[in-house]
Amino acid sequence: MSDNEKAKVRGPVKVIAVTGGKGGVGKSSVALNTAAALSEMGKKVMLFDADLGLANIDVMLGLRVDKNLGHVLRGECDLNDIVKEGPLGLRIIPASSGLKEMAELSVDELAGIIHAFSSLEDDIDVLIIDTAAGISDMVLSFARAAQDVVMIVCNETTSVADAYALMKVLANDYEVDHFRIVANQVHSLEEGKSMFRKLVSVTDRFLDVTLELVSCIPADPNMRNAIRRRSCVIDLYPASPASRAFRALAHRVLSWPVPEHADGSLEFFMEPLVQSKSEEIKAPPKVGDLKANSALDQKPKDQEDNA
Ligand SMILES: Nc1ncnc2c1ncn2[C@@H]1O[C@H](COP(=O)(O)OP(=O)(O)OP(=O)(O)O)[C@@H](O)[C@H]1O
Ligand SMILES: [Mg+2]
Repeated sequence: MSDNEKAKVRGPVKVIAVTGGKGGVGKSSVALNTAAALSEMGKKVMLFDADLGLANIDVMLGLRVDKNLGHVLRGECDLNDIVKEGPLGLRIIPASSGLKEMAELSVDELAGIIHAFSSLEDDIDVLIIDTAAGISDMVLSFARAAQDVVMIVCNETTSVADAYALMKVLANDYEVDHFRIVANQVHSLEEGKSMFRKLVSVTDRFLDVTLELVSCIPADPNMRNAIRRRSCVIDLYPASPASRAFRALAHRVLSWPVPEHADGSLEFFMEPLVQSKSEEIKAPPKVGDLKANSALDQKPKDQEDNA
């Protein structure tokens, strides 16, 4: 079957980028458990680990990965060959040490990724991308290409500041204007809501974006216990507070609209990556520049308008 024919028999695919700016806020945990909860609900879910850092999804789950996207790009195997099975039937594209920063990829290599995704044999309802910390070109590209950007924030000043800095670049340079906020590791619903209000008070003043609080995930020791046992909390501790919150989030995810052009080929998702490459969008700031993005250094929106 040709790639186009495959796309026709597939339904629309929802593509969600999980990001957050700061490291260690729970991006991979939220991506993995939301994916597992959706999988448990009978959805066909693919989790794409786009973080080349240490705490990869495959490490968290103890998966044996011998081939990666680098091999696919070099034509040594097919994307279908590197897809791994995770808990609850979840499908996983492991992180690839062979995949360089998007900025370093040639147009041919990007075209190779597009082709690899369009040749996926799995029928997919939801593709969740776990991104790295920081504001790298790769993170921006995935967030820009996804239909929904889920920002993970925890109750630390640096997490709120880094989330703001990432949203600022995505809004100003990549026209992303809607962010779905997950308050992670909260000790009460009120803590999550207050964190959200803090973030909104800054974005409302300085950015033209809409923020939506989509989940407050409780701090739950079973999250770490599950990873120690090389699985996820949804699978091992289904009745724990975090699992209940992830299931509610998964239900919510399914209510988010899928654009009409999301025809299942996944090319719609990968193509903007190539476009952004060929348009040579100006280099994004480095992670170390986050301080320079501090809301305190900026003029409020209304003042900018009058300037
Ligand atoms: N709701 C939670 N309750 C308790 N522990 C949590 C929760 N969410 C995440 N953690 C723990 O926090 C640590 C960091 O989580 P995780 O690796 O998911 O963060 P990350 O944002 O993906 O990090 P990185 O930026 O390194 O990729 C892990 O040990 C994880 O088990
Ligand atoms: Mg991670």
